[in-house]
Amino acid sequence: MPALGNEIIRLEEVASTNSLVLERPAYLERHGLVVVARHQTGGRGRMGRRWASLPGRQLQFSVVLHPPFPTADFPAVALLAGLAVAQACEEELGVRPDLKWPNDVMLVGRKVCGILVEGSSGAGGRPRLVVGIGINCQGDPGDFPAELQAHLTTLAHETSRPVDPEALLQTVLERLEALLERLAAGDKAAMLEQWRGYGLLGEGQRVRFTTQQGPREGIPEGLTPEGYLIVRLPDGSAVIQVSGELEWMM
Ligand code: BTN
Repeated sequence: MPALGNEIIRLEEVASTNSLVLERPAYLERHGLVVVARHQTGGRGRMGRRWASLPGRQLQFSVVLHPPFPTADFPAVALLAGLAVAQACEEELGVRPDLKWPNDVMLVGRKVCGILVEGSSGAGGRPRLVVGIGINCQGDPGDFPAELQAHLTTLAHETSRPVDPEALLQTVLERLEALLERLAAGDKAAMLEQWRGYGLLGEGQRVRFTTQQGPREGIPEGLTPEGYLIVRLPDGSAVIQVSGELEWMM
């Protein structure tokens, strides 16, 4: 199978790299294709949110995957993408980010990278995954829209080091490829354990979410073998969060 990034399409501006790939069947047929954009006018985040794009300040790209592993492993891909970004930040910049389930990459409690994994079907109905990654590289939080400034940061701001987006892209792709190969080889449990090493779990953070019985709060304390989040409630019971539709109180 060709390596991730075997073909890279570079765009000055696009609505959303994920949408572009999903809308073009020919792109979806190219495993490892990467589409990078300097600016996105309609960048999308998880749960229908917007992803704010600042021209030239972020590394924003989508990777096409033809998953060689079963659908039961698809939820783990988003976690592994976060792990790949964390590993690449360590390797390239010497900073160790935290991972906020399911896949936000955080530095000093602020988001530095968001990940959106979307599924589709390609030729013959075979499953395709599009892994969209946006990393705030250059500039300061003050450059972003006012309502976001308290919640995000950039690699350059936190490390005071020059950030080479091209080197970062290559390292993220290498790390992601290595992790996905291990997933296909059945090494999921060990990688989720690695994720836990970066994960904000059992460190006093609280999450809020809605159940059929109403709103609940609890403490995230672990992952299931699938990569779902185990949340401990005040009454001692545990609930499993699958979809990531929960609010972190931090
Ligand atoms: C999130 O934080 O909710 C996910 C943000 C994902 C942003 C990336 S940037 C590249 C790709 N294209 C998009 O429209 N979104 C993802």
